[in-house]
Amino acid sequence: MKLLASTLAALSFAFASTLSAAPIELKFSHVVAENTPKGQMALKFKELVDQRLPGKVEVKVYPNSQLYGDGKELEALLLGDVELISPSLSKFKKYTKKLQVFDLPFLFQNMAAVERFQASPAGQELLSSLESKGLVGLGYLHNGMKQLSANEPLYTPADAKGKKFRIMSSDVLAAQFEAVDAVPLKKPFSEVFTLLQTRAIDGQENTWSNIYSKKFFEVQASITESNHGVLDYLIVTSAEFWLELPDDIRSELKTAMDEAVAHGNQIAAEKADKDKANIMASNRSEIISLTDEQRQQWVEAMKPVWQQFEDEIGKNIIDAAVAANQ
Ligand code: LMR
Repeated sequence: MKLLASTLAALSFAFASTLSAAPIELKFSHVVAENTPKGQMALKFKELVDQRLPGKVEVKVYPNSQLYGDGKELEALLLGDVELISPSLSKFKKYTKKLQVFDLPFLFQNMAAVERFQASPAGQELLSSLESKGLVGLGYLHNGMKQLSANEPLYTPADAKGKKFRIMSSDVLAAQFEAVDAVPLKKPFSEVFTLLQTRAIDGQENTWSNIYSKKFFEVQASITESNHGVLDYLIVTSAEFWLELPDDIRSELKTAMDEAVAHGNQIAAEKADKDKANIMASNRSEIISLTDEQRQQWVEAMKPVWQQFEDEIGKNIIDAAVAANQ
C-alpha cells in the first residue's frame, strides 16, 4: 500500500513538472509585412522573449493576415485563439469610441505631437479604455502619418469628389472622406492591393511604409503628401490571458514589449523617409507636394469632422491632443 502511494506521488510529481515545463504559447498575429515598424517590433519581441524566458514562453509571430485579418483579430483575441495583436487605433470602434480621437483629420502636426499626446495623462488613460471589454492595452506603437493615394492626382478636395477610397473600419475616417464628397469603403487591409489593382476603388490612405511594403504605389498613379492623419497602433492582449500569467513572467514580458516598442518606433521614424524615397526612386507613382494654400483647402474641408465626433470622443481628450502640438 505504502509502495503504491509513493509510486502514485512520484508519478503525479513527474506529471506536474512535465506540465509546468511546457512553455506558455503566445501567438502574435498581425496584418502587415515583416519589413514594417509593426512587423519588426513583433520580431524583436520574439527575440527578446526567446533570450529571456527560454523554455518558459514561446512566441509565434504570424504576419500578413496569415492567421487573422483585421476584421477578425480582436474577436480571436477575446476568444483566446491568439494572445497578442496590435491593430491600428482606427479599428477599435466596437470596443471604445474614445480612441477615435486618433482618426480626426489634421489633429496632430507631426509624430512628435502624437508621441507627446500618447505619453500625457489623457493618452495614458486611453490605454485602459478597453478594460471593461476584457482587453488590456500594453502600449502604443507608431507607424506614421498617412498620405492619400489615388489613380489620378489629388491636389485639392475637389479632385477627390466622387472617388472611392478604401478606409479602415472607422466612422471618423468615413466622415473625413464624406466631407470632401468622396465615397469611403471599409475594407480589410489584406484586400487593398487587389481592390486598387482591379480599379474597384480609386484610392486609399496609408503610411509610406504600408504603401511601400504592400506595393500600393505600383497600382496608384499618384500619392499626395498630405500628412492629414496618423496611423498608430495599440498593442493589446486579453485580460484573461494576461492576468493569469505568473507575476514574474508578466513583468518580464512587459519589459520585453516596452523594448520592442522602442525598437519599432525607431524603425517607424526611419521608414517614413526611407520608404518614401524608395517609392520616389521606383518612378511608379508621382509624389505630389501640396502648396500651403492647397493644404489649407483640405484642412478646411475636413476639420468640421471634429465637431461631429466631439461628444463620442470627449472634448477634454480632443483638447489634450491639440495641446500636444505645442
Ligand atoms: C490598414 O488597415 O490600412 C492598417 O491599419 C494596416 C496596419 O496594420 O498598419
